[in-house]
Amino acid sequence: PLQDMEKRRQGIRDHLVLVPCPFQGHMKPMLHLANLLHSKGFSITIIHSQSNSPNPSHYPHFFFRSLGDSSHIQSASDGDFVPFISALNLHSPTIFRDLLLRMHFQDPVLSIIHDSAMYFPVTVADELDIPRIVLRTSSAAAGFAFALSILKQQRSFPFQENESEEALVEFPSIRGKDMPVINTFHKEARDEFLARVHHGTKTASAIVWNTFRGLEQTTLEKIEQLFSVPNFPLGPLHKHSGASLTSFATEDHSCIAWLDQQAPSSVIYVSIGSLITTSESELVEMAWGLANSGQPFLWVVRPGLVNGSSNAAQLLPKEFKETTNKRGRVISWAPQEAVLAHRSVGGFWTHSGWNSTVESISEGVPMLCSPIVGDQRVNARFVSHVWRTGIQLEDGVERGKIEKAIKRLMVDEEGAEMKKRAMDLKDKVASSLRQGGSSSEFLHSLVDFIKGKLC
Ligand code: UDX
Repeated sequence: PLQDMEKRRQGIRDHLVLVPCPFQGHMKPMLHLANLLHSKGFSITIIHSQSNSPNPSHYPHFFFRSLGDSSHIQSASDGDFVPFISALNLHSPTIFRDLLLRMHFQDPVLSIIHDSAMYFPVTVADELDIPRIVLRTSSAAAGFAFALSILKQQRSFPFQENESEEALVEFPSIRGKDMPVINTFHKEARDEFLARVHHGTKTASAIVWNTFRGLEQTTLEKIEQLFSVPNFPLGPLHKHSGASLTSFATEDHSCIAWLDQQAPSSVIYVSIGSLITTSESELVEMAWGLANSGQPFLWVVRPGLVNGSSNAAQLLPKEFKETTNKRGRVISWAPQEAVLAHRSVGGFWTHSGWNSTVESISEGVPMLCSPIVGDQRVNARFVSHVWRTGIQLEDGVERGKIEKAIKRLMVDEEGAEMKKRAMDLKDKVASSLRQGGSSSEFLHSLVDFIKGKLC
């Protein structure tokens, strides 16, 4: 539209097209990257799906283009995201090509930056000869582990079969049982998805990572050997961009006033992210583990947290609520970054999604890790055994084990040691973002890369 063209002309900015993946844990790092690049003088167009689209009124400095009606694409509400993401990738190339052609004609697109899970831009960018950069929203370690699983698969080692306790020869920091898993009823579609993500990453002009050198230097060196294109670890993106973003769900800010009343470092914050679900019996074990630990807690129980229920909080036992009503608080969605930065929060019981992990690292909060799927097991292993800023709850969710693990983290000397190491990592985050720090320097070189080498 003309209005857009006029806006752009005023700023005479180089134009970038960004394609996020429509899940909370993927959208957030892409929008932070968009903010960073906008602050460096680029004009930004976000291409989004109809479902889970960001609200344009919250980002008046970006342009938005929709991939159109996706009502024929099933949402991932049953927790199996493979059919959803496959359909989105299958149906989007034509409309994306049309959008891109129109935009390119009005305001040449200097580069496309897409989430690796949205691989449909790969062929379109090649066809139109527009440079393409990939954003990986996972840790470098998980990125490397996913690549290993693809390479094994291509050499006919079956994906997901090795669940051993042994360290991997190719990646000794993790065991066979820490390798990424994607559980789905659509195994062929999953394998194709992973292969295409890998191909799209390998053939990109460059890769942006939501991590930083001080955290993952050794793995980043492995990554550089594997993907021999420039790699830009710019993270933690949420700290680097400094912007506060809105989530898809409404945040309950009243928990901050509650946290204000708690003793310093006494509260364990509990959340298993935006996607994964539990069974009712696991929810009950979690509840009693928290109650029996004796620690104050702030627990995010999303309405859809339990399979088959639309109001998970209602499934919490009455006696649990009575026992803990002064010491605990259950909410449906938290302002997570503010919670982790609060002085009363001393630990984070997490599913080890990468955003949650990196947000916790940024605030020096030690973690209790309950990884379930995807990249989470890799992240949990790094937290517990490489950075040693947390412990992993292994072999199921059971109240006695939970109680013990919370005490180890929040009360014991062992936990105090983890806290010290977590605070050291927090300092490393700050130095990587300072002028001259690695993430700050990588941002300068990314801007040069986009403007210079890619023109
Ligand atoms: C998914 C995958 O599970 C994860 O492993 C992958 O790395 C990214 O995509 P998700 O499960 O949602 O993401 O976890 P995570 O990466 O931790 O992202 C959750 C985001 O939601 C975080 O940025 C967190 O701050 C936010 N959040 C979570 C809230 O804002 N409020 C909440 O109550 C809970």
